[in-house]
Amino acid sequence: MIGLTKLPSVFLQLIIFYNQMIDVILGLQWGDEGKGKIVDYFAPDYDIIARFQGGPNAGHTLYVGGEKIVLHQIPSGVFHPHTINLIGNGVVLDAVTLKRECDSVARFGADVRKNMYISERTHLILPGHRALDKASEMQKGDSKIGSTLKGIGPAYMDKTGRNGLRVGDLLDKSFTTNYIKLRLKHQRLLDNYNFQEDISNWEEEFFEAVEFLRSLNIVNGEYFINEHIRNGKRVLAEGAQGSMLDIDFGTFPFVTSSNTITAGVCSGLGVAPQKIKDVLGVTKAYCTRVGSGPFPTELHDTTGEALRKAGNEFGATTGRPRRCGWLDLVALRFASMINGVTKLIMTKADVLDTFDPLQVCTAYNLNGEETDRIPFQMTRADIQPVLKTFTGWNTDTSTAKTPEELPGVMQEYIRFINEYLGVPVAFVSNGPGREQIVKMN
Ligand code: GDP
Ligand code: IMO
Ligand code: MG
Repeated sequence: MIGLTKLPSVFLQLIIFYNQMIDVILGLQWGDEGKGKIVDYFAPDYDIIARFQGGPNAGHTLYVGGEKIVLHQIPSGVFHPHTINLIGNGVVLDAVTLKRECDSVARFGADVRKNMYISERTHLILPGHRALDKASEMQKGDSKIGSTLKGIGPAYMDKTGRNGLRVGDLLDKSFTTNYIKLRLKHQRLLDNYNFQEDISNWEEEFFEAVEFLRSLNIVNGEYFINEHIRNGKRVLAEGAQGSMLDIDFGTFPFVTSSNTITAGVCSGLGVAPQKIKDVLGVTKAYCTRVGSGPFPTELHDTTGEALRKAGNEFGATTGRPRRCGWLDLVALRFASMINGVTKLIMTKADVLDTFDPLQVCTAYNLNGEETDRIPFQMTRADIQPVLKTFTGWNTDTSTAKTPEELPGVMQEYIRFINEYLGVPVAFVSNGPGREQIVKMN
């Protein structure tokens, strides 16, 4: 039993504890949920925005002063001059893309030398990784993953295979020797694939970019972030891809090569699990997927085409048309469970303004049996979505600022999702602009 005299210090400790926690924003579907816009919106509330996984396969779209910019590797807090942006150890970093991206954000006044830090443990994507990604996809033919071809899989393979080179290695004089050793290994693998392109064509650009990378702020990421957390700084972890692309829990093998889920925050930044407070899960009001793999609610008809058009669903990284379909609540509840989502953020609600009726998937009919669980092998299973139909709202919602301004039918749609998932929709995004977001009661 705690004595009364002890209470104040217990309270003090609790207050300190709750002020030393980090929040997470991540995608709950197959990526492109609008994470970039949402992180940019919340960035003023935080001191640090940290990417914890993925690499240039990500494409996070932001609007700065009305102008569109897509970030691939730089965290989405970069346009807020007082926000520190950390590229964590769980990321795989392509120096060439980073250099290009740093130049483009500089045009908007962002100074990465002042507000961006990179963990020395972050693994590098090398020219050989990009070539191997391409060679592997070519060999797979029709069963290809639909990778962004940025070298993500091979870079993570070299990490887990304990061969990779890290940002901190750039500061060591043996870097070039170690690079050559790894390059030889890559070339042998490429020869096995009978890959014809010469990776030396990519190396001049790579070494130029490496020189640039050496000039940036390279830090011990785990001490950096923990010291800031201890000092009461507010940290937001920014996810890339989406939970259904997670290497462990996604639609394997049609996934990316990192842990995109909340657990990835701990290993990708070096923060302890009990430091994680709010997990804001971002979902579109419908579903999209780019690349191959199962997608139970995909629409192959004119409605799917209309969703692509209304939502401008074309990949921010590769420009590929995104596959479109109805909201999948089975997958969303699964993602919510795995991530420990505390609040939902629903984006692109305005895209549904002209769709009537609307449908959402509440269960799967799996080889003749109904289930509300994600099956082990979605790829081979015959999954038919069980759909619930809603009346559309047929109203322009893009100018709404308060929940009261959202049509009643949309509120019903949101209430159903709240109840199905047991997690509240806390924000509704109703347009790509920074200011187009409605805080729900
Ligand atoms: P991310 O990878 O999760 O950051 O998402 P992307 O940037 O790849 O794709 C989201 C797209 O939707 C971008 O073009 C955004 O500008 C746009 N977008 C984000 N939120 C909304 C929204 O609420 N409504 C509409 N119409 N577009 C949005
Ligand atoms: P953001 O952060 C959507 C998909 C690819 C492919 C699979 C594997 O913008 O949401 P990879 O290049 O990782 O080997 O590709 O994952 N993919 C994404 N889809 N958004 C992304 O990122 C994605 N990053 C990878 O299309 O199907
Ligand atoms: Mg994207």
